[in-house]
Amino acid sequence: MAIERTFSILKPDATKRNLTGKINALIEDAGLRIIAQKRIRMSREQAEAFYAVHKERPFFGELVDFMISEPVVVQVLEGENAIARYREVMGATNPANAAPGTIRKEHALSVGENSVHGSDAPETAAVEIAQFFSGNEIVG
Ligand code: PPS
Repeated sequence: MAIERTFSILKPDATKRNLTGKINALIEDAGLRIIAQKRIRMSREQAEAFYAVHKERPFFGELVDFMISEPVVVQVLEGENAIARYREVMGATNPANAAPGTIRKEHALSVGENSVHGSDAPETAAVEIAQFFSGNEIVG
């Protein structure tokens, strides 16, 4: 199995409710290593660029407003099959459909306020990591 890196965001609903530690524990218990992490306030431009692929979707404006409403924690996670593994740990986008024990089942509020983001493929992981981290901030 390949050692991969994936990009993660602990979203505003999670930071606002002081869930950073609880979510990080679920990440680490799943065997993923947090090799970079910082708390930031996303700018509107950053959020629009990050979610550009969704710009035609009806919830785009709401999603951008949400992502800049409170600080977020951006992370790089490393581990075996990290991309798929983290999506498993996150659970389904809509917490109503998420499996027990997943981050979204345990903590998310709704399909929008769903606590975490994780990259969906190696190519997007590389682009997303580069949007928020420079090489010397990642310590594997
Ligand atoms: S997925 O996992 O990419 O297939 O999910 P998708 O349904 O395409 O959603 C993409 C991201 O948009 C967010 N989302 C929403 N935000 C606000 N309101 C509504 N209704 C809504 N529906 C989806 C969803 O949380 C996904 O965010 P990320 O950060 O990519 O997980």
